Amino acid sequence: MKKYINERCPYFLHGGDYNPEQWIETKEIWDEDMRLMKKAHCNEMTVGMFSWPLLEPSEGVYDFSWLDEIIEKIGKNGGKVVLGTPSSAPPRWLTAKYPEVLRVNDRGERLRFGSRQRHCFTSPVYREKVKRINEQLALRYGKNPTVVAWHISNEYIGECHCKLCEAAFREFVKKRYDNDLKKLNHAYWSGFWGHTYASFDEVEPPSSLGDASYVHALTLDWKRFATAQAIDFMRTEIEPLRRIGADIPVTTNLLFSDAYDNNAMAEYIDIAAIDSYPNWHSTWESNQDTASSTAFWLDYYRSMKDRPFMLMESALGAPNWFQYNKLKRPGMDVLASVQAVAHGSDTVQYFQFRKSRGCGEKFHGSVVDHVGTENTRIFGEVEKTGKLLEKIEEIAGSGTDARVAILLDYENGWALEAARGFQNKDKKYFNTLRAYHKVFWKKGISVDVIGPKRDFSKYDLVVAPMQYMTDEALIEKFERYVFGGGTLYATYTLGMADESDLCHLGGFPGGKLKDVFGIWNEEIDTLYPEERGEIVLDNGNGYEAADYCELIHEKGATVLARYAKDFYKGMAAYTVNRYGKGKAYYQAFRDTGDFKTDALSSILEDLRIFGEIRNLPDGVTCHVRTNEQTKYVFVENYTEKETSVSLDGEYEDLLTGEKVEKVRLSAYGFSILKKQA
Ligand code: GLA
Ligand code: ZN
Repeated sequence: MKKYINERCPYFLHGGDYNPEQWIETKEIWDEDMRLMKKAHCNEMTVGMFSWPLLEPSEGVYDFSWLDEIIEKIGKNGGKVVLGTPSSAPPRWLTAKYPEVLRVNDRGERLRFGSRQRHCFTSPVYREKVKRINEQLALRYGKNPTVVAWHISNEYIGECHCKLCEAAFREFVKKRYDNDLKKLNHAYWSGFWGHTYASFDEVEPPSSLGDASYVHALTLDWKRFATAQAIDFMRTEIEPLRRIGADIPVTTNLLFSDAYDNNAMAEYIDIAAIDSYPNWHSTWESNQDTASSTAFWLDYYRSMKDRPFMLMESALGAPNWFQYNKLKRPGMDVLASVQAVAHGSDTVQYFQFRKSRGCGEKFHGSVVDHVGTENTRIFGEVEKTGKLLEKIEEIAGSGTDARVAILLDYENGWALEAARGFQNKDKKYFNTLRAYHKVFWKKGISVDVIGPKRDFSKYDLVVAPMQYMTDEALIEKFERYVFGGGTLYATYTLGMADESDLCHLGGFPGGKLKDVFGIWNEEIDTLYPEERGEIVLDNGNGYEAADYCELIHEKGATVLARYAKDFYKGMAAYTVNRYGKGKAYYQAFRDTGDFKTDALSSILEDLRIFGEIRNLPDGVTCHVRTNEQTKYVFVENYTEKETSVSLDGEYEDLLTGEKVEKVRLSAYGFSILKKQA
């Protein structure tokens, strides 16, 4: 069953952020933009995110005339609108009259008007003002046929330490520990350095002036609270839209930083949206590495709602905020867009349509440059993408079937980062996830990236790298999954702490996991960056270890590889354990790439999981979207070399209509194929 962004647009949306308020003095430019929009084969504009001062020029006085006008123009031009709510940037009058809506930092300093996302999520005044303007927007545009989605705020981020937020945090903590001081003192392990709480009133958020890095359950609770407060605020924003019957899907462009738990945030939106700004053509990694880490995030955003998502923002040419803003080479703008579609996006959207004339983003890549015409290289790339999306329209709405999942647990990431031990500078949780994802990406095998609350049972293989935090629920879940026949692959640092970041007693990994994996992990050796360990597999193949080598004992598991160096030479380094109907693999060390590739390849072989194309040349990958009986295969070339790929059977080339058994790909080229499953 196809799932479109909105039934009213059963096709790909192509467009992006449009800021007509910057050109309100020269409205002939609005008309010119409509002409250029058509010419570029764009069919969507995202408006309104930064329009609050125009929409409500003074308190309670609204003016929608200009927005009516622009929405009507876009609609008449054959386009659709994604309508932003303006909470990320309040007008100056609002913060001047109600300074309490501005955030306070962890040193107690109140921020001033400026930038974006500077508002307190708790402030009743701010919530009220946001509610009012959103009510007006819902009343006016909720049933407008041109408007196909709500874009709530813009890139939620940050935290606030004002008195209201502190009080809300205290309530949050009280609730979490059932108003029981004993529970709080236990979770916060407050005997450490004499930090015992005598009352809930003494609970303070972490601060660089106080406890910032030593009370880990406090750090975790503060992050949980920040997420809960962002969610609560977001729901306050969504409520009037729903109440007034503005029944169009809700999305927001969640940042992929670890500021909030995106798994939790995503529960409250209808469609996931990503802002994706990869550093193509860098000097520190190859384009295929950039493509693979981008693919990780694209897979995560698709998996968030298990349906097509939106590539809400991307940069044409280059953005302006990298340290070095190198242009994407010809072809890469189109290929990067195709990549998002291959991974399940039903939109290709850019930031932004017309380049600003002034201020902080005046040199950010855009569809229409300062020259103001369609005669630019970038405009040509946009036009190409637009035509392509029209040609492959039948793919819109189709899904992705993955048999493999990688676990992405934000709370686990927070706990790992907070832990003092191992390597203190950077535990590299996200890098590690991406490294495992890359093994599948190279083979063109679909992977879902899912949070710990999701159903594991539909996957044949679940990979859980560095899952340091395992609460009772997750231990149970892993156990049931393997017992029931699943294959679970876990690594070093598995199951060391519970949800309060208290270490599991009785040996790592905690609880039943020792039986599931058939091992006990006694110690962890941290290597210096330039050091390497050595591993030898059963078949004699040797591999390198880096960063971490755990000293594990067998408790029933079969040893598949052992350490070949240092005082733990001969000890188990990689094991498998049969448990119930399934298998649990444990990789006790961090590898430098080859080991995980070989280990997972052999597991994939056992499970009969293969990519759509078996012999992919280096730098070329493929991704499949499916709709009932039809498979759509995207073949992408991230190298600068022309190359050809032999297919396993006959496909229809969707772009030429020809039957093919082999495709030729130009530098940064791609091919889109179709087959009945
Ligand atoms: C973010 C914002 C946009 C714009 C772009 C520039 O993603 O959401 O408003 O500032 O960055 O890259
Ligand atoms: Zn606050």
